[in-house]
Amino acid sequence: MKTAKTKLPIVKYFLLSLSLSFLLLFLFFSLRPRRTQSPLTTTTTNRPSSSAVSSSEDLKIRPGYTSYDSYIQRQLNKTLNPKLRKVWTTRDWDRKIQVFSRFFHELKLQNLLSNSSKTLCIGARVGQEVEALKRVGVSDSIGIDLVPCPPLVLKGDFHNQPFDNETFDFEFSNVFDHALYPHKFVAEIERTLKPDGVCVLHVALSKRADKYSANDLYSVKPLVKLFQRSELVHVRRVDGFGLDTEVVFRKKNAIQGS
Ligand SMILES: *[C@@H]1O[C@H](CO)[C@@H](O)[C@H](O)[C@H]1NC(C)=O
Ligand SMILES: *[C@@H]1O[C@H](CO)[C@@H](O)[C@H](O)[C@H]1NC(C)=O
Ligand SMILES: *[C@@H]1O[C@H](CO)[C@@H](O)[C@H](O)[C@H]1NC(C)=O
Repeated sequence: MKTAKTKLPIVKYFLLSLSLSFLLLFLFFSLRPRRTQSPLTTTTTNRPSSSAVSSSEDLKIRPGYTSYDSYIQRQLNKTLNPKLRKVWTTRDWDRKIQVFSRFFHELKLQNLLSNSSKTLCIGARVGQEVEALKRVGVSDSIGIDLVPCPPLVLKGDFHNQPFDNETFDFEFSNVFDHALYPHKFVAEIERTLKPDGVCVLHVALSKRADKYSANDLYSVKPLVKLFQRSELVHVRRVDGFGLDTEVVFRKKNAIQGS
């Protein structure tokens, strides 16, 4: 009788914490992009438990690059492919600029981008996203890629951006999967962004990107970990040329100590 009474509060406490955990789990899931086969669903169904998944498991560097040079050679192989370049500048040109313009327009409405922003597009190929930024009124925009494409795209390696610290208000990239050193890719963005600067990444979470990719990403968790000097602004589903997720970060303002 006595033991039953003392056990009761323990049971109550246990049930309370259990329901609290479920509530937290529910909040966690509902903050994620909604879709039946969401990135998180993929993660949980493929792996024992979502909380047990470490960031390194959700970000895998593809094997097979014997040196940085062989990696660069392979990337150049795609970038320099004359057939692809022709498609990028002809058939793809207007269609992609239209879609990019819509993305950038939406970001302007959310005050993440403005006409006066100084912007950089990373891995811009022939510069469709740079042209789109200019068309929505963001005139101070430039791109970088391993192969320059003047006047929109300068030569530059995203592992070692050719810019001074705190140069840009806004950086966009849809080539995170091409980074052999993701920490360097992110560190360079955080270095060249001004305090309060915004970085927008379009990534593929629910399907694998192309054969030129250097890494595979399975959730946004590794990104949140890599962007050490920034805070997550939002994650949402997009339809961006095979890339399904938009992840937005804002660089912290060190002076405010946030
Ligand atoms: C580049 O692509 C060509 C075919 O387009 C292939 O023959 C060559 O081996 C490739 N080079 C590298 C370094 O991947
Ligand atoms: C930004 O630029 C666009 C295109 O040039 C223009 O239509 C728009 O009015 C500008 N917005 C502001 C706030 O100046
Ligand atoms: C630029 O930023 C990097 C890392 O954020 C820092 O290590 C470096 O000292 C800075 N350089 C200058 C010239 O401030």
